[in-house]
Amino acid sequence: MKLEDIISRVEDLPTPDPVVNKIISTASDPEASAKDLANVVKLDPSLASRILRLVNSAYYSLPRKITLINEAVMILGFRTVRNMALSVFTYDSILSRKHRKHLDYFQLWKHFVGVAVGSELLAQMTGYPNKEELFIAGLLHDMGKIALDYVFPEVFEAAVKLTSSLKISFCKAEEKLQIPEHAAVGMKLLQSWNLPEVIFLTCGGHHSPEDFSESLYSDVISMVHIADFLINLLKYGDSFSYEKPVVEPFALNTLGIRPKFLVRYSERLKEKLSTVQDFLNIGQEAVK
Ligand SMILES: [Fe+2]
Ligand SMILES: [Fe+2]
Repeated sequence: MKLEDIISRVEDLPTPDPVVNKIISTASDPEASAKDLANVVKLDPSLASRILRLVNSAYYSLPRKITLINEAVMILGFRTVRNMALSVFTYDSILSRKHRKHLDYFQLWKHFVGVAVGSELLAQMTGYPNKEELFIAGLLHDMGKIALDYVFPEVFEAAVKLTSSLKISFCKAEEKLQIPEHAAVGMKLLQSWNLPEVIFLTCGGHHSPEDFSESLYSDVISMVHIADFLINLLKYGDSFSYEKPVVEPFALNTLGIRPKFLVRYSERLKEKLSTVQDFLNIGQEAVK
């Protein structure tokens, strides 16, 4: 099976609906105002309500309750609101698979959230200026797995069975079954959604940051790689990869990270993960 076999069936793959698409484009339009973005979000009342629930979640620990989308955009920023819309969409596309009872999709979603939170935290701790971009790059890093599951569910299932029976990584299962790497599939998918380059390149490089050493975004790719490593090590959620996770020295060197820092990062990540309940249950709307 080739990468093109999956990409050619792109109509079967999850695509953000028009409102989420419009949110993505408005959020990256330098001319757009907070009101413009809020107006787009409000086109989908259910989405708006779910976003408000996230805005008021423990993760952001805002001093007072926010009830208007306009305020949310002003206080948390365009990118964070865009991230929330994409989170809702991603949750829906993963959890819509739950009729396929053999896999625990909620645990996979938990892995996505864990890596998003871990990436954003690492950006903050290393002083990277645009931490919101890290949240979404982390959240979407394994979308290739979802894409494969949509297009060839039996193949995805076979890969997961192989990882758990042989206790190998998902990447090794891909090799054994000669299927395209989920990182490459995900990169194509996110590119087709018109997301910024940093996001789709990070998806493409999250297992092999060194291959992207020439990229403008090798620091971002390294951060998501490290967050993915740590979330797997902490066994937070399930990425359907059952080998002891390894971290590439290249990623640590790129960011100048030492073992002592990793210990501190791990402690803070555990604390942060205790505030993400509303992200995990993003299926629910806000209660008025
Ligand atoms: Fe991955
Ligand atoms: Fe992952």
